[in-house]
Amino acid sequence: MTHIVLLHAFPVNRHLWDAQAEYLSKAGRRVLTPDLAGFGDSRLPQESTMAALAEQVLAQVGQPTVFAGLSMGGYILMEILRQHPEMVTGAIFMDTKAGADTDQARDQRLEVADAVLAAGHTRDLADATLPKLLGETTRASNPDVVAQVRAWIEAAPPEAVAAAQRAMAGRPDSVATLRRYEGPALVVWGAEDTISPMADQQVMLDAMPQAVGREIPASGHLSAVEQPSAVNDILLEVLSDWR
Ligand code: MLT
Repeated sequence: MTHIVLLHAFPVNRHLWDAQAEYLSKAGRRVLTPDLAGFGDSRLPQESTMAALAEQVLAQVGQPTVFAGLSMGGYILMEILRQHPEMVTGAIFMDTKAGADTDQARDQRLEVADAVLAAGHTRDLADATLPKLLGETTRASNPDVVAQVRAWIEAAPPEAVAAAQRAMAGRPDSVATLRRYEGPALVVWGAEDTISPMADQQVMLDAMPQAVGREIPASGHLSAVEQPSAVNDILLEVLSDWR
């Protein structure tokens, strides 16, 4: 029976995966949804690096397994593949990208890190990021999901936001890492995702010729909560195929 570790996005927490954890558990899969980088119940990492975030995850994972990482979770999965490829029996990259930041994006992350620490809250971050995280369909027709994601962001400790932003700012390009990976792979993206658009998905698909690509209609960047049933079905399908 294949098990799975689900790695959440920035700046939310493990509850991003509640629908998938419930669905896959009922289907008999063991599911681990760790909080990352000081979000939720997790501790701040020792250092603000992707390596430290990956180590925090691996400390909770006893054996090689399938991983799914959504956006920041995908960056952590790429770091695990770089440092400990033997721990990955299948890789699912959701709404993420393999490239490093541009200088401008890096500077912006460091500014956000400083700003949330100075403010001591993440309400402004919620205002700024919600319209980008959620697709237009969700924003127009699913106020419960909009409110839930806002609540998660507002509950995020500023220190976790700063640590994660600094770690993501320093992350290397992962295209060569994906090229080296020969195990089963799936690339999933929301059709309305503007943070990780199709061009970024194509880079990952080109780097892993064995990867299957799946687009989720009517979803933005946070597909796990915007279209949970579609994501549930895709995950169970691949877990059944990747024995
Ligand atoms: C995420 O959803 O985890 C973020 O969009 C990642 C990022 O800021 O690059």
